[in-house]
Amino acid sequence: MQTVWLIAAARPNFMKVAPLFHALAASGDFTPVLVHTGQHYDANMSDAFFADLKLPDPHFHLGVGSGNHSEQTAGVMLAFDKLVEAEGAPDWLVVVGDVNSTAACTLVGAKRGIPVVHLEAGLRSRDRAMPEELNRLVTDVLADVLWTPSPDGDDNLIAEGIPATRITRVGNIMLDSFEMVRPAIAAAGEAAALGLAPRSFGVVTLHRPSNVDGDAALGALVEALVATQQRLPLVFPVHPRTTKRLAETGLNKRLEQAGVRLLEPLPYVRFMSLVVDGAAVITDSGGVQEETTYLGIPCLTLRDNTERPITITEGTNQLVKAAGLAAAVDQALGGQWSPSRPEFWDGGTAARCVEDLRRRSGRA
Ligand code: UD1
Repeated sequence: MQTVWLIAAARPNFMKVAPLFHALAASGDFTPVLVHTGQHYDANMSDAFFADLKLPDPHFHLGVGSGNHSEQTAGVMLAFDKLVEAEGAPDWLVVVGDVNSTAACTLVGAKRGIPVVHLEAGLRSRDRAMPEELNRLVTDVLADVLWTPSPDGDDNLIAEGIPATRITRVGNIMLDSFEMVRPAIAAAGEAAALGLAPRSFGVVTLHRPSNVDGDAALGALVEALVATQQRLPLVFPVHPRTTKRLAETGLNKRLEQAGVRLLEPLPYVRFMSLVVDGAAVITDSGGVQEETTYLGIPCLTLRDNTERPITITEGTNQLVKAAGLAAAVDQALGGQWSPSRPEFWDGGTAARCVEDLRRRSGRA
């Protein structure tokens, strides 16, 4: 048996780690061990996802919490290094996505000579003002194995000089999570509980620092949502960073008075239940761009760029600016959309990951 440590840190990590955890546990060749860095710690940002995705309590919890980027990254490095020292190195270290904990654990693993695998490798926004882009660059250059979700990921890595032997295209693991709990999502009835008929509303998520940290950017987005609300009632589960900023600026009242429904952050199943019943999604998330493409639901992304261009070229995604949001929503609602399934966006990604690990361990 080989031991595989899986790093889980923040909300978007949990639906990437869960399918792999379950597939490794069932493999007979590998023992998965969950390490939670504690970057996200609120019950509805973390525990609820473990419950929805049937993950056990983490084997190790580093309890690092919030802080500025250096504090958080360094805090994870120190705590994770101590864990490796105390427990001994695993055979494999799997990091996922692009959050601060991903880069921090990769640095520790690489310096300690632990084989590091990056799941969701190769994505590039080419925007170095995004903390996630820096995390992706650091992680991909140091990781020994790069598991990519789509061909653009392979192309980006090859262009950066990463040897092809390190790269395996495994597909989009988040969709394994979706398929795993599809019946629960179908049964959740989140829209009905809010008194909303299917396709009669839009779902909003916003949390990027570039959108919510500055007063001017946040103000423009709030006005765009108010204008959009006249055409399509909006439901907005609000990330803690955004809740804080809306309260500080008083803009939460502007949204509420316009009729936008502000909710606490939702667990995975309840959130996906809203999305599948929504007429459109307005977001600055990465993962939501992929989920909406998979489901054939129009996605208006409030960003200047995306590290997931396949959701535009093959999917339902469109980049929009605040000023153009309401018109873009109008247009999207009138369009014809069908689900797009890029190769290996099929619920079988975790199985391909296990197969690749077997091959690379000389077990297949
Ligand atoms: C992080 C990731 C981002 C990801 C996002 C999803 C980085 C650089 N960013 O951003 O890529 O899209 O998670 O949510 O790693 N907070 C709470 N409770 C929590 C977690 C956070 O109240 O459980 C508050 C704290 O005030 C904290 C702030 O949210 O300072 C931001 O949290 P942090 O983890 O630093 O970044 P996110 O914006 O969540």
